[in-house]
Amino acid sequence: MRVLELKAASGNCKLLIGESIERVMEYCNAKKVIIITDKNVLQLHGHTFPKCEMISIDSGEGIKTLETVEIIYERLLELEVDRSSIILGIGGGIVCDITGFVATTYLRGIRFGFVPTTLLAQVDASIGGKNGVNFKGYKNMIGAIRQPEFCLFDFELLKTLPESEMKCGFAEIAKHAAIGDASLFSYLEVNYKEILKLKKSIIEKVIYDSLKIKADIVAKDESEKGERMKLNFGHTLGHAIEKTVGLPHGKAVSLGMVLAANISAKKGLLDKKEVERIVRLLENVGLPTKIDFDKNMVIDAMRKDKKRRGDEINMVLLKSIGNVMITKIKIDELEAMIHEPDMC
Ligand SMILES: NC(=O)c1ccc[n+]([C@@H]2O[C@H](COP(=O)([O-])OP(=O)(O)OC[C@H]3O[C@@H](n4cnc5c(N)ncnc54)[C@H](O)[C@@H]3O)[C@@H](O)[C@H]2O)c1
Ligand SMILES: [Zn+2]
Repeated sequence: MRVLELKAASGNCKLLIGESIERVMEYCNAKKVIIITDKNVLQLHGHTFPKCEMISIDSGEGIKTLETVEIIYERLLELEVDRSSIILGIGGGIVCDITGFVATTYLRGIRFGFVPTTLLAQVDASIGGKNGVNFKGYKNMIGAIRQPEFCLFDFELLKTLPESEMKCGFAEIAKHAAIGDASLFSYLEVNYKEILKLKKSIIEKVIYDSLKIKADIVAKDESEKGERMKLNFGHTLGHAIEKTVGLPHGKAVSLGMVLAANISAKKGLLDKKEVERIVRLLENVGLPTKIDFDKNMVIDAMRKDKKRRGDEINMVLLKSIGNVMITKIKIDELEAMIHEPDMC
């Protein structure tokens, strides 16, 4: 097991990389522990959970709502959960986001920890302190920032994950490498097959390195005033693709990264060979790198983006693999560029 400490403005979080879920109680240190999980995770991995009270929710983006939060608050009241208790979220990004929000708001904040069970949750959703729910069709509209006390990463839990979910998680690892660690990127190029097969020593190194990149960025800029925007590499266009085409997040981010890399090259920032490396890695893993739908839909979605100010949008571009810059681009310029041949 390897340990990282994320020190951020809202609190510190211990990242227990390669620890077993069977030892999770050692980190809870509370009279009462309440688990929040989803029904799939409960069915597949419930036998490994510590014996304590449990709240099981349905799965799917549709349950990431204030209604679900309210149902959980009611159960916490029934269970007489108080400030001496700790809530443990065991599940994918949805369980983590909801658990974090519940724990941050119930009694104005009680202790919480995570055991993320998807690759995406292990390398991305569980760390960074962002939590929240969707509202009126807008993703992650209501929420807060607060760090869990710990995140326990048990790779055994990933063995039941469908291959498509593994690939989506891989997209975020590739993103972390692309924005912050050229040597991790090279390692992914060589070892992507073993990563998808969850070879223990390799997955531990890759998750550790990936978490280190995100943790270092979050420690510098938890509330996303500058540095944290780097984590949006591939996401500006990726989110628009996800929304309009309905692709899974990881696949949309894969396309978003290819577009952002090509835009970086068009602007003379990035060598074309580096774009090719990114495309090849994503292709090898089985992530999409070519858009086979109407690009106008993507631009329309960008114009409607709630985070957009005026006719410009913040974009993360690559100067080289492992080195990024944040820049404002006019949506009209973006539109012209993404329609050029060979963009994606
Ligand atoms: N807070 C953040 O910083 C942050 C970052 C990225 C994503 N997110 C959020 O994370 C969510 C997506 O997370 P996700 O991809 O983990 O989705 P998810 O939580 O819906 O999990 C995907 C599916 O896999 C199932 N599952 C979970 N663990 C499993 C396992 N070990 N074996 C088999 N099946 C398992 C779940 O029940 C679910 O059906 C989104 O809501 C997104 O907004 C948050
Ligand atoms: Zn993402």
